Amino acid sequence: MRTDLFDKHYTPNIIARKLISSVRHLKPTLIADLAVGKGDLLFEAERLWPNAKFLATDIDRVAIRRLRRMRKNWQLGCCDIRNPRSRANCTALRNAFGAASLILLNPPFSCRGGTRFPIETSNGSFFSSTAMSFLLTAIKYLENSGTIVAIMPNGCLYNQKDYQAWEYLRSKFTVSIIGKSYLKVFPNNAANTIIVRLSPYRKMAKRRNNCFIKRSKVNNKINVSIIRGCQPLYKVVNKTSGTILVHSVDLQNHHVYLNGRFGFNTNRVVEGPAILIPRVGKIKKEKIAIYYENDSIEISDCVIALKTSTIVNAKYLHKRLIENFNILNSHYVGTGAPFITISRLKKVLKAIGVLIENE
Ligand SMILES: C[S@@+](CC[C@H](N)C(=O)[O-])C[C@H]1O[C@@H](n2cnc3c(N)ncnc32)[C@H](O)[C@@H]1O
Repeated sequence: MRTDLFDKHYTPNIIARKLISSVRHLKPTLIADLAVGKGDLLFEAERLWPNAKFLATDIDRVAIRRLRRMRKNWQLGCCDIRNPRSRANCTALRNAFGAASLILLNPPFSCRGGTRFPIETSNGSFFSSTAMSFLLTAIKYLENSGTIVAIMPNGCLYNQKDYQAWEYLRSKFTVSIIGKSYLKVFPNNAANTIIVRLSPYRKMAKRRNNCFIKRSKVNNKINVSIIRGCQPLYKVVNKTSGTILVHSVDLQNHHVYLNGRFGFNTNRVVEGPAILIPRVGKIKKEKIAIYYENDSIEISDCVIALKTSTIVNAKYLHKRLIENFNILNSHYVGTGAPFITISRLKKVLKAIGVLIENE
């Protein structure tokens, strides 16, 4: 088999570290890379989690042989990961279905002549680009509460052939673009890249609401700090590093979608747990978003964050805002686009039994 045909743009250390640092809070037991190459992503992971088990495959026999010499305790196999028969015959992958708690991936990107690959998913089959087909295949080896971090071509965010794949991924995972525009870091590779993290989807139960303040069954009051974003979006230039900027369009389906746009490093930085709501524009229930991660984000001047001390409190505050949505909604007013002021928001919070720390 000719192995020179497979994109071997191995991950530079700086990117491997960025990838791992985005999941450093996890405690994975089985970590996998299904297109492992020289193994740099797993070596970086091994530094942080020396006691984890490691699983790796690659189509390149030479690469796997080399790794076998270096890591006798890793589960290693030579496999064409896109070929179901090759996967079935690969001993390393036996019993690996739905087993990995963390998958790291830097798949080949080349997609000559608009080639599309058929992929079987739990939502039926559809076509995707090369890189996306690796990502969708890797998911099969992920346990239910598992996380994948992958380096992907920037283009797959926008191209038509991966549209269905993203829809599918968003229905199954919390999708975050945690880094963007690594153009020059891959030697001899012109592709602009992004880092995508797929973490477990957190479902939000639908709540009834009406105009009256809902009594809380829980008798405790929670404290929040209010942080109003100050970064005007028109000033955002195409930065390639920094803190990720969250704008009101990134509040979707009760989640904060990290889209990889970077802010100015102002002091309006928020760490989870927090509730993010739009300051300007029509408020919808699904725009009341919970941000769980401890990674810092910057918020645009169209977003307000309500920082809580614990995830339990964030969930509780979220529940209270949804239950009393009509009260919140009625405080968005304005002659043009409706907006809420901090003082109007304080009134809402007090009305629903929330104490404000930074008054
Ligand atoms: C871009 S390199 C990344 C290698 C490594 N994961 C890293 O980050 O440095 C892509 C790897 O995918 C492997 N590869 C290409 N086609 C493959 C296939 N069909 N199945 C499994 N591995 C494949 C190549 O041999 C190469 O090692």
